[in-house]
Amino acid sequence: MFKVSRSRNNREDRPLKSLDRVFSKAGVASRSEARSWISGGRVRVNGKSIRNPDHWVDLERDRVTLDNKPLQQAARRYILLYKPKGYLTTRRDTEGRPTVYDLVSDAGIWLAPVGRLDLDTSGLLLMTNDTGFADRIADPERKVPKVYQVKAATLLSDGQLEQLRHGVPLNDGPTRPAQVRRLRDSARHTHLELTIAEGRNRQVRRMLEAVDSKVLKLVRTAVGPLRLGELPIGKWRDLTVEEVRLLGG
Ligand code: URA
Repeated sequence: MFKVSRSRNNREDRPLKSLDRVFSKAGVASRSEARSWISGGRVRVNGKSIRNPDHWVDLERDRVTLDNKPLQQAARRYILLYKPKGYLTTRRDTEGRPTVYDLVSDAGIWLAPVGRLDLDTSGLLLMTNDTGFADRIADPERKVPKVYQVKAATLLSDGQLEQLRHGVPLNDGPTRPAQVRRLRDSARHTHLELTIAEGRNRQVRRMLEAVDSKVLKLVRTAVGPLRLGELPIGKWRDLTVEEVRLLGG
């Protein structure tokens, strides 16, 4: 049976959870996958079939089974994927486009991405079945730095780089100070390294638009202490115990 300890202060550890969340917290399935199992009649709580995914479960007392087998806490798994451009960071796409799940199916377990990379962005994407770890990494207050290499559609002046450094106005508020390094200029493009500690939707693309330029190419090269290193594009590897520890896992 899946159990967690009772704690008054931490919402994550409260023993009452909706039935679908019990599965994601156990690292077994996404909530949407769990909802389909539940509505399909595969799940019992204390021996009684429950088809309502919002049914409250007391993790300390209730016995949850899937296909008559007790729900077990899955072993925690943390992987680093080198996402290629052209892959969606979603499980399924109505248009049938490739997704990051096509690249990690050989990991053999359910994993959820830690944040997202746009369809046209390549680079380092963490995936895990530890939802608490994913929430901590994505929490803007923890300020985990993410490093991007950017090819801008124009040549950028020192003034434009200074604006990016100081923070630019976006429709969801100004960006926090960023580290910006000019890598090189070609005839018509500036190549930059941009380090930000936020993770807003399309943030880097919108930052470049805010200084009257555009992103032509975007690669995330690092998250916190992790680097892409020698990993080939489209491949993944497990994080080491030390890497998980350094990220606060
Ligand atoms: N910023 C973006 O604009 N896109 C990404 O995929 C990541 C960061």
